[in-house]
Amino acid sequence: MSILDEVSHIEQDAIKRISEADSLDLLRELQVQFLGRKGSLTAVLKSLGGLSPNERKAVGARANQVRELIEQKIEEATSRLSSAKSSSSFDPTLPGTGQYLGVTHIVTQTMNDICGIFERMGFQIARGPHVETEHYNFEALNFAPDHPARDEHDTFFVEGGRLLRTHTTPVQAREMEKRKNDLPIKLIMPGRTFRHEDISTRAHVSFHQVDGFLVDEGITIADLKGCLNAFTHAYFGEGLKLRFRPSYFPFTEPSAEVDVACYLCRGKGCQLCKQSGWLEILGCGMIHPNVLEMAGIDSEKYTGYAFGVGVERPAMLKHGINDIRLFFNNNLRFLRQFN
Ligand code: DAH
Repeated sequence: MSILDEVSHIEQDAIKRISEADSLDLLRELQVQFLGRKGSLTAVLKSLGGLSPNERKAVGARANQVRELIEQKIEEATSRLSSAKSSSSFDPTLPGTGQYLGVTHIVTQTMNDICGIFERMGFQIARGPHVETEHYNFEALNFAPDHPARDEHDTFFVEGGRLLRTHTTPVQAREMEKRKNDLPIKLIMPGRTFRHEDISTRAHVSFHQVDGFLVDEGITIADLKGCLNAFTHAYFGEGLKLRFRPSYFPFTEPSAEVDVACYLCRGKGCQLCKQSGWLEILGCGMIHPNVLEMAGIDSEKYTGYAFGVGVERPAMLKHGINDIRLFFNNNLRFLRQFN
């Protein structure tokens, strides 16, 4: 093999092995093998002394050309391998890992929305205990001991003759008693309530209500209607008609249930309102004189109105939620929608 052939052989061998190298360590070894002090190309250069001046010039030029080529190939391979190495541990071009911000639970949001509307009308917030006495849950609200209306409140009784409140109306009895000498009273009372019901798409053992009431001199049913009109329009939208249907609650007389014209079809009839054109949203009435008297308020001098709004139902109507259980099974994919 001529010395020039040897140089070409070194060249091809180097290019092949550098291109196949799969680590930086191996590249460093190859560099030593070809270009190091005892490297194969270095050996060729060292042997130039024994050649004729012409040969020396030709072989020297060729060997230097190959040296440069090998250096260049090693440099290229080095940057290829170091960038591959970094991408396996960190690739700044990949999208980041998403972080979810917490959101207020849709039930709390709805309760805040409802309370906010009444607060802007001058109502203040009051709260009461979940574990309630029979007295405040029933007696003080004019439910006689064997009154059939108690059957509608399927009650969880707990130790010590207490119960889990079946509505937020007992807070009304508590607050009237507490503030009987500090009239007028104008309160909104949000909170959790409990009933011993079979759980279904429409019913749950635990749900939420917002009760409200106003006691003062000269309060009439016109004040009640004005207040509920303002609330309904603020919550469901302007221009919707209200319908007061006579109803019965032991603690109000007269009593009514309020329907609002279905905000989806505006009263024409659709799936949401079951073709009736109306959505039932709350109960209300003028506070029964017995309830005022039991709290120590003179029912000859003072009158008042009261109302109770469910929380889950308006939220379901407004957001098109078809199963009340969704509120309480902590499915984050459901809850995160409402932010
Ligand atoms: N407490 C009633 C219920 O749970 C709702 C209600 C109706 C509350 C009329 C009131 C009211 O304050 O005036 O079914």
